Amino acid sequence: MSVLIAPSILSADFAALGDAVHRVAAGGADWIHVDVMDGHFVPNLSIGVPVVASLAAISPLPLDVHLMIVEPDRYVDAFIDAGAASLSVHVEADHHLHRTVHRIRQRGCKAGVAINPATPLTALDEIAADLDIVILMSVNPGFGGQAFIERSYDRLLRLRDLLARTGSPAVVTVDGGVDPSRAEALAAAGGDVLVAGNAVYKAAEPAAAIAALREAGLRGLQARMSR
Ligand code: DX5
Ligand code: ZN
Repeated sequence: MSVLIAPSILSADFAALGDAVHRVAAGGADWIHVDVMDGHFVPNLSIGVPVVASLAAISPLPLDVHLMIVEPDRYVDAFIDAGAASLSVHVEADHHLHRTVHRIRQRGCKAGVAINPATPLTALDEIAADLDIVILMSVNPGFGGQAFIERSYDRLLRLRDLLARTGSPAVVTVDGGVDPSRAEALAAAGGDVLVAGNAVYKAAEPAAAIAALREAGLRGLQARMSR
């Protein structure tokens, strides 16, 4: 087992997205996290299908696409055709989550569900066993660079219990306000994948930030495994 690092290109320079991908790939990142926002589900607009397609054509790393959009089922096929390796939708945004998740998997893509800070974790009970990824939001989605919500540590512990109880194979991604100072505790509490936007792209040395996240994450993972 390992801790995966997924830099969020939301915090990169949008005029140089290809460079932003190559830079973190060379720096040892595992996935590229791509935040898609529609101005409805979240109060911000970001990027859409054509940008994902262009990035997929040049990225040596899998694209981990996080849809913060209403009615995400309408766009599942388009993002998979564009080259998403994993596709996550919000539990709050989809009335037919089971159908969407199974459609994503049927297309050979990893399926994820993201959950907002104020949504009860029990919303995942009936779907957890069918998921490859759960994205635990540790900020309210919509913007990079927000402050981490402290309660997320406790939610992470309870999410791990839920996954064990439901027999879910899903990995847990922590998304929002993650930086090296939190990586050990997050991995210890149950984070398998650490998304980091500002902590990587606003760092003087993105590669050093990725290394710091991984080292701290691995310490946390060891602590979790020896519990
Ligand atoms: C929030 C996004 C996150 C965000 C992470 O809406 O889903 O992926 O870009 O950025 P930081 O790490 O800066 O909070
Ligand atoms: Zn995200």
